[in-house]
Amino acid sequence: MIKPTKTVIITGANSGLGYECAKRIARTSPDYHIVIAGRSAERIERAAQSLAGETGVNRFTPVQLNLASLDSVRKFAEQWPQLGLPPLHGLICNAGVQYSGHIEQSEDGYEATFAVNYLGHFLLTNSLVEYMARNARIIVLSSITHDDQAKTPLPKPVLKSAEALANPFPQAGESIAEFAGRAYSTSKLCILMFAYELERRLSASGREDIAVNAFDPGGMLTGMTREWKPAARWMMKALWPLLRLAPNASTPRNSAKVLAEMAVSERYRGISGKFYSMIGSYRQGAREKQTSAVSYDKRQAQELWEGSERLIEARK
Ligand SMILES: NC(=O)c1ccc[n+]([C@@H]2O[C@H](COP(=O)([O-])OP(=O)(O)OC[C@H]3O[C@@H](n4cnc5c(N)ncnc54)[C@H](OP(=O)(O)O)[C@@H]3O)[C@@H](O)[C@H]2O)c1
Repeated sequence: MIKPTKTVIITGANSGLGYECAKRIARTSPDYHIVIAGRSAERIERAAQSLAGETGVNRFTPVQLNLASLDSVRKFAEQWPQLGLPPLHGLICNAGVQYSGHIEQSEDGYEATFAVNYLGHFLLTNSLVEYMARNARIIVLSSITHDDQAKTPLPKPVLKSAEALANPFPQAGESIAEFAGRAYSTSKLCILMFAYELERRLSASGREDIAVNAFDPGGMLTGMTREWKPAARWMMKALWPLLRLAPNASTPRNSAKVLAEMAVSERYRGISGKFYSMIGSYRQGAREKQTSAVSYDKRQAQELWEGSERLIEARK
């Protein structure tokens, strides 16, 4: 049996895409140990056991991480060196939430979609960079909804200051569902801009060996609907046999295959600052795509970065 010499962390790996990606890496890459990071101790423990059962290998370590709590993210990073795992070669910022019927706040009092999908991952990634091995890879999960020119069922993203995104209020005439949908699409724009800005900063600081890329897994029927209104959830499930035929639909298994490759395979070695999407191409794999105009705006990315640092500093 090969002893793992590398570790990859997958956030939100206890279900959906993250779980499938952990399984895929375990099956294809015996040199990798996999950290199942998630908010519920019980769910990550159960996932690690079930992954070991499904793959027949025991290279999974569940570690608690609640991205809705900056303290929990700090604790995760602080305990990293003590875990005694092989060097860190990969971080997949996969966890995500999407609300539809209510507004929720993180433990720090910030809007929860922004906090989990973006701000928690911002802090996590920045805190772990110092532990990353040479040629480590960081992948963030974005979505076509980040693009204000794309036709998607969600309201278009609206980029504002980090402070305004963390403490938003519905615009006049905006329903809770629209507000929550916009929070999601905007969080996916923020994490994409973070990936591009991180790539620039790593290059400038002499860590250009670390690759940072973003991925859109396409539309998949997963636990992402768990916070939706029951009627919307029911409708999605009922319509899925039709929706899954659409060109933007995928399955957690198909998308996980690409995500795992982006994290560990030779094919993606040395590629950085790119966005890959399953949209329109999931039967063939992912394609590299251009993202929205604003996502490449360096000044706004820098402002978002600095605002995020202030939000984190304010909750120390
Ligand atoms: N499904 C789609 O159509 C689609 C499309 C484009 C992009 N994406 C993106 O793909 C990624 C994976 O989503 P999925 O579809 O696989 O959904 P999923 O099955 O709901 O998985 C999301 C994971 O995130 C975890 N999570 C939620 N809140 C967390 C928190 N506060 N701290 C730590 N972990 C937390 C969940 O854990 P719990 O089990 O504890 O809730 C779950 O394991 C997300 O970033 C999503 O935005 C999905």
